[in-house]
Amino acid sequence: MQRIDHYTSTAKWLHWAMAAIWLCAWLLGLSAVHWHSINADHRITLLHKALASTVLVLVVVRVAWRLAHPAPALPASMAPAMRRAAHTGHLFLYGVALMALPLSGWLWSSSGNHEVWMLGLVKLPALMAPNEAVQHAVGIFHTWVAWLCGALVGGHVLIALKHHFIDRDTVLLGMLPRRLQRQPSTRPSTPPTAP
Ligand code: HEM
Ligand code: HEM
Repeated sequence: MQRIDHYTSTAKWLHWAMAAIWLCAWLLGLSAVHWHSINADHRITLLHKALASTVLVLVVVRVAWRLAHPAPALPASMAPAMRRAAHTGHLFLYGVALMALPLSGWLWSSSGNHEVWMLGLVKLPALMAPNEAVQHAVGIFHTWVAWLCGALVGGHVLIALKHHFIDRDTVLLGMLPRRLQRQPSTRPSTPPTAP
């Protein structure tokens, strides 16, 4: 049986919670822009901003945790070039999908003089005074980077599934809860009857 190197439980919680938030934020952002009939009152935009802005806080906790707790080693079966590609991919996920994208959203709102309420509870300070030129440029940046990150995250998910179903290594298992991986018990299901 292969030995499984696991991420810490905190790293797993942060990964899966932020993955869920990120994917919902992505779908909400897309709906806000392209589904005018349900976003006439900007309700979806506000929901997008309220949810996505939590990533700005969570990513600080996550990076601090990650710096203190190294990731499990990648399988020895992976070629050196693939390991480097995996590390670069993770850096992009952190730097672009989890930092640059939400930061650009915040800057977009600030430059357009729109408020940002994290989870509808905490008002974030404006990053700058209103400025139409910046608002326009950052809006284009946020939109393009959102689409780029959609492709990046799509690739990340497909690669994780390839590791599990095609390469049959332990990369995905190391990010899943340990209790899903318990071996079936070897004990008999019914107690032995008395002679
Ligand atoms: C997890 C982080 C985020 C993701 C994945 C994300 C994703 C997206 C996507 C996919 C769009 C639609 C792009 C298009 O097709 O035009 C969008 C639009 C938008 N995003 Fe984000 N975003 C994030 C964070 C933020 C944050 C933190 C804010 C502001 C605080 C923000 C503000 C906006 C605004 C104002 C729009 C335009 C909505 C509209 O026109 O009604 N985003 N975002
Ligand atoms: C729902 C589908 C997802 C699956 C199945 C998945 C799977 C995985 C797996 C197996 C790893 C560990 C090792 C590796 O890839 O080499 C990982 C790491 C990572 N994932 Fe995901 N992921 C998903 C969604 C996301 C999303 C939406 C994001 C963020 C936008 C994300 C960001 C990351 C980052 C930054 C790492 C590196 C962790 C570290 O080493 O600190 N993942 N993911």
